[in-house]
Amino acid sequence: MSDVTILAIETSCDETAVSIVRNGYEVLSNVVNSQIESHKRFGGVVPEVASRHHVENITIVIEEAINEANLTWKEIDAVAVTEGPGLIGALLVGINAAKALALAHNKPLIPVHHIAGHVYANHIEERLTFPLLALVVSGGHTELVVMKDHMDFEIIGQTRDDAVGEAYDKVARTINLPYPGGPHVDRLAAIGEDNLKLPRPILEGYDFSFSGLKSAVINTLHNKNQKGESYKAEDVAASFQASVIDVLSEKTFDALAEYNIKQLLICGGVAANKGLRERMTQLCAEKNIKLMIPRFELCTDNAAMIGAAAYYQYIKSEFAGMNLNGRSNIEL
Ligand code: KG4
Ligand code: ZN
Repeated sequence: MSDVTILAIETSCDETAVSIVRNGYEVLSNVVNSQIESHKRFGGVVPEVASRHHVENITIVIEEAINEANLTWKEIDAVAVTEGPGLIGALLVGINAAKALALAHNKPLIPVHHIAGHVYANHIEERLTFPLLALVVSGGHTELVVMKDHMDFEIIGQTRDDAVGEAYDKVARTINLPYPGGPHVDRLAAIGEDNLKLPRPILEGYDFSFSGLKSAVINTLHNKNQKGESYKAEDVAASFQASVIDVLSEKTFDALAEYNIKQLLICGGVAANKGLRERMTQLCAEKNIKLMIPRFELCTDNAAMIGAAAYYQYIKSEFAGMNLNGRSNIEL
């Protein structure tokens, strides 16, 4: 098959991102315009603000991505876009831009699932082989997924309440760290002590629950405040992170054993977590499991990952029509 070059757009949350990817892994350009500064003062992403920023930035980011790749539309085979899940208003900006480009340049339109994108961030680093187990840990998702082939996802466990990134951000807020709190908690955890005696919420099967852990942090700090006891923010971070990593690693390695899978892929924003990367690297080495985690900039939202996943839809001609709509909730 000749080369396939895809222009991909991702606007599901607070990054306006456009990338051009060849054959599912060769990144010709990858532009990410982050809105974090605009949302910081609200302590989280404000959907309406996100949509407005996407509208302001999308055409500029598209142009930048095309210029950086030094391509003309003749050399681009398709336009891919995140269909969902995500903030509906934010998704629609990317989808409408993708439709306009597909229509104007007469290219097929490829709708991509955001989480498939996160998984395929790893494919950019090293081509995926199967079977593998994917641990998806982001601001909106916590899932264990078995993959036996390209774009074939079997979810064997997921969070019943908060996603792990969401819990990170909420805990960060209780110790007055700026949004998004995950990276700050990670940084502090490295210098703190796991001395808060937090629970390790382990459910049956492969599901997760993080809202109880978040509440345990809040209650513990509340009790300490009432008793006039002091605590260090770094110890809160270290205690919370130790619990999260214990739970994630226990479930992940149980699943690897039960399904007899020898490859683990970790993806999503929380895959940038240093503590998680260290623990998983160590456990995988001990248990002879091959580990794949994308480099930091491919962990958080970007469009290169969407372009990578889109390649496998392109070769199966899985295209959308001009009636493509955004879907805030959509099964993997
Ligand atoms: O994948 P992502 O960019 O967006 C979603 O699809 O949700 O993930 C964002 C999440 C945020 O909750 C952020 O706090 C978290 O990933 N995150 C981290 C780290 N870097 C980003 N959480 C823990 N440790 C980190 N180093
Ligand atoms: Zn994401």
